[in-house]
Amino acid sequence: MSFDIPPNDERIKKHPYVQSPNQWPSSDAIPDDIFKEPMQRYHAALINLTRGLLAIMVAGLPGVPFSFFDEFFADYPIAFLSPKHYPPIPEGTDLEAVSCGEHTDFGAVTLLLQDRVSGLEIKDGDNWVPVPPVEYAYVVNIGDMFQKWTRGLYRSTLHRVVPVRGGHRYSIPFFFDGNPAFRLVPFDGEREGDFIETVEDHLISRNLKLAGKA
Ligand SMILES: [Fe+2]
Repeated sequence: MSFDIPPNDERIKKHPYVQSPNQWPSSDAIPDDIFKEPMQRYHAALINLTRGLLAIMVAGLPGVPFSFFDEFFADYPIAFLSPKHYPPIPEGTDLEAVSCGEHTDFGAVTLLLQDRVSGLEIKDGDNWVPVPPVEYAYVVNIGDMFQKWTRGLYRSTLHRVVPVRGGHRYSIPFFFDGNPAFRLVPFDGEREGDFIETVEDHLISRNLKLAGKA
């Protein structure tokens, strides 16, 4: 889920590939105070947390104005909260075939809340390193946008999820991708060529690549 943007809002019409209304389960199936409202409150808290986190992450970098993220957080930024359930894998299943393959996240940062079941791995050089779940702690993934802003000084983390046999795994990633119209220029302000990619351009291009269509 993301912000509850009305379906006829101009911003949805302008960015139909990256913005869409939430699809909530009917309140008969799950009462709003059990699912929808806690999700909305948690989403709002994560927006604030991400804002503070990004401010801290750029505090030590030269030339990043204090206001840099104002526009990035404006106009219903793309910010997906995406609870995931990995069911137990039956014996004999090819783990590679059912794992979430190696990738980097597209946005600025991802905040990942895990349960006590492991499965997440990050690439360190040539090796895959398991990330042990820590209760009540977030794994913070740097995404592609932050790598672009810093020209690679901060690297987007290559990671994958390898399912574990014999148990359920739950994780709740929060992907912060920002205002779709925000223009992605490195923090130093120097851009290459005349074309300036927006958040929307970047997300469409990365999704097409992931789907093997670009
Ligand atoms: Fe990811």
